[in-house]
Amino acid sequence: METVRLSNGVEMPQLGYGVYQVSPSECERCVSDAIGVGYRMIDTAQAYFNEEGVGNAVRKCGVPRNELFIVTKVWISNAGYERAKASIDESLRKLQTDYIDLLLIHQPFGDYYGTWRAMEEAYRAGKLRAIGVSNFYPDRFIDLAELSEIAPMVNQVETHVFNQQAEAQKIMQEYGTHIMSWGPFAEGRNNFFGNETLTGIGAKHGKSAAQVALRYLLQRGVIVIPKSVRHERMEQNLNVFDFNLSDEDMQAIRALDLGHSLFFSHYDPQTVKWLVQLGKSK
Ligand SMILES: NC(=O)c1ccc[n+]([C@@H]2O[C@H](COP(=O)([O-])OP(=O)(O)OC[C@H]3O[C@@H](n4cnc5c(N)ncnc54)[C@H](OP(=O)(O)O)[C@@H]3O)[C@@H](O)[C@H]2O)c1
Repeated sequence: METVRLSNGVEMPQLGYGVYQVSPSECERCVSDAIGVGYRMIDTAQAYFNEEGVGNAVRKCGVPRNELFIVTKVWISNAGYERAKASIDESLRKLQTDYIDLLLIHQPFGDYYGTWRAMEEAYRAGKLRAIGVSNFYPDRFIDLAELSEIAPMVNQVETHVFNQQAEAQKIMQEYGTHIMSWGPFAEGRNNFFGNETLTGIGAKHGKSAAQVALRYLLQRGVIVIPKSVRHERMEQNLNVFDFNLSDEDMQAIRALDLGHSLFFSHYDPQTVKWLVQLGKSK
């Protein structure tokens, strides 16, 4: 497995398995399958309500804990120093582990400075091996990176061939922050798996559109966490380290960028109100 080295020296697998929208009852089976197939990094979140399933699979899988890399995220209803601090212990309990490899702030709303201080403290105490953020677009990302003691080591943002985040990635690099993609397939939107550029390039390499899309992100240095509940797709999505996209392939895929979200904008006032309300409803 290829890894990236975070700013504090921690090695993180560049490809992992995401469990958003995997039901709590199915999560243990999915994560067990994923680990069996060869995934070593798992991405969950407090808001996915399936941290216990991840913890059960990790406990039972037979792979030493230090060979696995667990990522979870503090939800906005746990924003602020005291709540975030308590929620870190709650995540550790649900994940049935003494440490989390990477903890992210899920959304840049509420008292995320308080959250960050609680995370810096837990990082120094050895409960977290690395800390970062998610959905922090350049304005809020720069603000936090400039004004906190520890700059985020990772920023997980919507990143796929239709929303490539090249400018945001450059800004992250200035602060030693690695970009991590959520929704590497845009959850199939915009006829993702039938896109002719992706299928055409895939045909040359004997690969699917999904594999080409992941390979494109990997070659740009992006960390990826494709999600599938199906064993054969888990295998397919991991099988992306035995081919290379040419400069010409990369250029053709670069041209697919629409430069905007296929989900929702963090700059849209209605979206911001919706997320802030979610944070209030504990
Ligand atoms: N930080 C955030 O705010 C945030 C937001 C969204 C997601 N995430 C993280 O990012 C991870 C990935 O994003 P995502 O789950 O939203 O979506 P995604 O990985 O872009 O797409 C998943 C969808 O693609 C299908 N699929 C997977 N592999 C396929 C393949 N090889 N061929 C055809 N279809 C395939 C899956 O169906 P099946 O399952 O039926 O195979 C599922 O419908 C999440 O699980 C989560 O960990 C984070």
